[in-house]
Amino acid sequence: MNKDRKLIIAGNWKMNKTVAEAIDLVNGLKRELATVKEVDLVVAPPFTALSEVTRAILDSNIRLGAQNMSEHNFGAYTGEICAAMLKEFSVRYVILGHSERRQYQKESNETIARKALAAHAASLKPIVCIGESLDERKGGQMEQVLETQLRGSLAGFSNDQLEETIIAYEPVWAIGTGVTATTEQAQSAHAFIRRVLASIADEATARRVRIQYGGSVKPSNARELMSQPDVDGALVGGASLEIRSFTEIVKNSI
Ligand code: 13P
Repeated sequence: MNKDRKLIIAGNWKMNKTVAEAIDLVNGLKRELATVKEVDLVVAPPFTALSEVTRAILDSNIRLGAQNMSEHNFGAYTGEICAAMLKEFSVRYVILGHSERRQYQKESNETIARKALAAHAASLKPIVCIGESLDERKGGQMEQVLETQLRGSLAGFSNDQLEETIIAYEPVWAIGTGVTATTEQAQSAHAFIRRVLASIADEATARRVRIQYGGSVKPSNARELMSQPDVDGALVGGASLEIRSFTEIVKNSI
């Protein structure tokens, strides 16, 4: 595939997998994907499995991600986990502002921006999620929603920090529904996102930012989605929970 940006395919395991199940999954991925060099591979297990998974992927081509983190450093924040704690497990990426957290934990763009800046300060790469709901799309507000989320969630970033950020475009109506955005819908949203990034930073920076698509990615649609000029990878939910489907998504994307 001829794109200047290296594809990045990440599995967001969400609230799934006990430690034993996580080890089985990641050992299988390690075995099946050992020769893959063309794609950056990331798994984001729940916090409880980070310690064991990081040991299992030592000396492999799979990198570790977390699904959230606090905007604060150490202190009186019951139930929270800070960047330095993630670093202890060699976490490299952190998913921030997932639509499930925006919905259930009421995370705002401002909170997400603070978390992402804390991630950058700790040299963790944030995967910042954005995406419109079905009502917003039907009401013709998609671009406005995406632009507001981008400007808010990336507020205060330097161009260098933006370059080290991954954007995940996850239309809410496509998450866990089996309904995938068509390749045209995905490409046009990604191209729009890149235009907004250029206006936030500049053209050169925007060209270097990787934009993942997420929402019912599966082996059968991965190739077409990943071949779009502005689609630089995938954030995979359900299909990342099994060795075979995640492996096929990666192999079909190369
Ligand atoms: P599904 O792949 O299960 O639709 O989930 C997408 C997602 O939310 C990844 O973060």
